[in-house]
Amino acid sequence: MIRNSIKKIQNFKNNKKITCLTAYTASVSKIIDKYVDVILVGDSLGSAIYGMKNTQGVTLDMMINHGRAVFNASKKAFTIIDMPYETYNNRRQALQNAKKLLKSTKCQSIKIETDKNNIDIVNHLYKNNINVVSHIGINPQKYKNFNNIRSVGKTKTEEQKLLKLAKDLEKAGSSLIVLECIKKNVAKKITKNLNIPTIGIGASVDCDGQVLVINDMLQTYRIIKKPKFVKIYSNLYKNIESGVKKYCYDVVMKKFPNKKNTY
Ligand code: KIV
Repeated sequence: MIRNSIKKIQNFKNNKKITCLTAYTASVSKIIDKYVDVILVGDSLGSAIYGMKNTQGVTLDMMINHGRAVFNASKKAFTIIDMPYETYNNRRQALQNAKKLLKSTKCQSIKIETDKNNIDIVNHLYKNNINVVSHIGINPQKYKNFNNIRSVGKTKTEEQKLLKLAKDLEKAGSSLIVLECIKKNVAKKITKNLNIPTIGIGASVDCDGQVLVINDMLQTYRIIKKPKFVKIYSNLYKNIESGVKKYCYDVVMKKFPNKKNTY
């Protein structure tokens, strides 16, 4: 099977919506690889896998371990891996860490959270033949408490700043841009004004593609306050809880293991 290239994903713009989900483990990667165009090994693994309150504690080694598992279990999807917090503070550090991440995991692109202060880093990585996905709007790595996250693009000034940032990032060499929690009309304008695809999370149907954190859309945990942009497609939390309850009952009642499970 031929793995999706960045060219193939870019050619989806104006032809087909791009589907993307996060994965952190081999088992999930193998399942979703059949269906999605792009797999993102997101640093959201900090909360999704490690139970962290935010993504600031995620390390390069964590990303390498999960990135390797996800890449090796997939065959078709284009694979993007997040560079964690404070691993791309300057050009030299960013290039060194990006090379390490890509070499160790074989993922095809890195993603960094971008604002007007690190456009030069995108350009430096691009010039050194690294595929870079930028991420604008809400940059989760800036938040200690995700409850403080609000959508952006509400004022004309914010709209203009976001549009300029997106254009500058395209010019700097970004191959895709993730738009997070951006008002619909602004996301639409950005998408229309770029030649590269936009992938939205909380940024409306007008983006060229969509991404969700898989643990959110499959509800692997008890949701206390669901972010507006999350749609729940399955309830694994309930299924796991029900299976575990039945198992414990069976063990206590000596119903498991039964004859069929015994040598
Ligand atoms: O880390 C992640 O999963 C992400 C998505 C929210 C886009 O960056």
